[in-house]
Amino acid sequence: MFEKIRYQLLLYYLAILVSILGTFTVAVRVVFTQSLKKQTVEKLTALGQGAAANVEVEKGKIQVTSDLYSKTLIDGDHALEWFDIQGNVIAKQGKYILKLPLPGKDKVQIQTGKKRVEGVTLPVINSENGQVVGYVRASQSLEEFDENINKLDLGLGGGIVLALVLSSVGGVILTSKAMQPIEESFQRLKQFTADASHELRSPLMAIKSNAAVALKYAEGMRESDAKKFQAIASATNQMTSLTEDLLLLARADQILTPKRDTVNLTEILNNLVQLDQSQAQTKQINLKADLKGSLYLLGDTVQITRLFANLIDNALQYTSVGGSVEVQARQTGAYLYINVKDTGIGIAPEHLQQVFERFWRADQARSYRDGGSGLGLAIAQSIVHNHGGLITVTSQMGVGSCFTVRLPADQPL
Ligand SMILES: Nc1ncnc2c1ncn2[C@@H]1O[C@H](COP(=O)(O)OP(=O)(O)O)[C@@H](O)[C@H]1O
Ligand SMILES: [Mg+2]
Repeated sequence: MFEKIRYQLLLYYLAILVSILGTFTVAVRVVFTQSLKKQTVEKLTALGQGAAANVEVEKGKIQVTSDLYSKTLIDGDHALEWFDIQGNVIAKQGKYILKLPLPGKDKVQIQTGKKRVEGVTLPVINSENGQVVGYVRASQSLEEFDENINKLDLGLGGGIVLALVLSSVGGVILTSKAMQPIEESFQRLKQFTADASHELRSPLMAIKSNAAVALKYAEGMRESDAKKFQAIASATNQMTSLTEDLLLLARADQILTPKRDTVNLTEILNNLVQLDQSQAQTKQINLKADLKGSLYLLGDTVQITRLFANLIDNALQYTSVGGSVEVQARQTGAYLYINVKDTGIGIAPEHLQQVFERFWRADQARSYRDGGSGLGLAIAQSIVHNHGGLITVTSQMGVGSCFTVRLPADQPL
């Protein structure tokens, strides 16, 4: 149980961490790329402006006189193109020239492909009359830009992986630290239950035997006194079985590995059905067994008997006069499947999950005198879990219930 909580806690923790890291990474990457992009455009714009300011205009046409920029402004990664007003290339310099026509509206262009090139186009304005006489396009290889982004991605990815590994280790330590006090207090609670019910045994025994002794010599007693002693005896019996149940439940989880004997399930079930026959007959319930083959499992005979006694007991108790109860058992593959089926009052769908809870009873008002205390199914479930099995229930109100137990099978020696 605690393993599961611990695991869930760790999962939540990692999920939150991943989402925080993810948001952070995306934010860093977006901001970084945007600012790098802006820088590139600014640089190209400056280069283009320089080139545009330095052309000569003759009769409304631009002239590129010298290779003014070839050495000074243009380094290996940059290039310049001059266009006339019609968009025809007049001159170009540099290696990374866009293979794209002049842009219509956008001044920034990016040529995709193996090596990306970005270009910024600026108008050349005649300083005398303010008319546009041509265009200058400054371009640049994006190789370095892409390299930087790649490096960033690698760094961020590596960082995330490292952070996750470290925080997983931290998370395991953290969750086990957090669970420790809870586990301890749970253990103490169990120990208390076990101790308390153990301590209650002897005073109960004393009351029981005193009542029995008094009832033995009932002749001189008033009849009403005898009735009272009988009531004391029956209440004491009730309390004894309740404390025994509590003790069993408290200990069941402590003993992680129950006894591992070869248990003859067929025999146990046949005996139980035989034993409960008289109880069934008084309620005119048809109690029968349908057992296929010889069924064996590894475990504790006393506990397994207790498990099915509880289930059959419930089936008889919650089935009205004239109904029927059937115990079916068979082996399928490596598992034994045992059904305890009744035609009783059934369990409401919203209560199906609760029936296995300690002290839970559908009819809370019912007095202890009917025999149960709401621990029967809790004990059954704890025994099944101790044997590496599974217990489930299906039920329909007014039609009946079916408790199914699955246990790992064993071959007889
Ligand atoms: N076969 C059944 N049919 C209908 N209700 C059942 C059946 N078995 C158990 N229940 C319901 O589940 C509750 C818990 O069962 P259990 O743990 O055996 O306690 P108890 O029998 O002492 O009440 C019962 O009080 C009853 O309401
Ligand atoms: Mg019961």
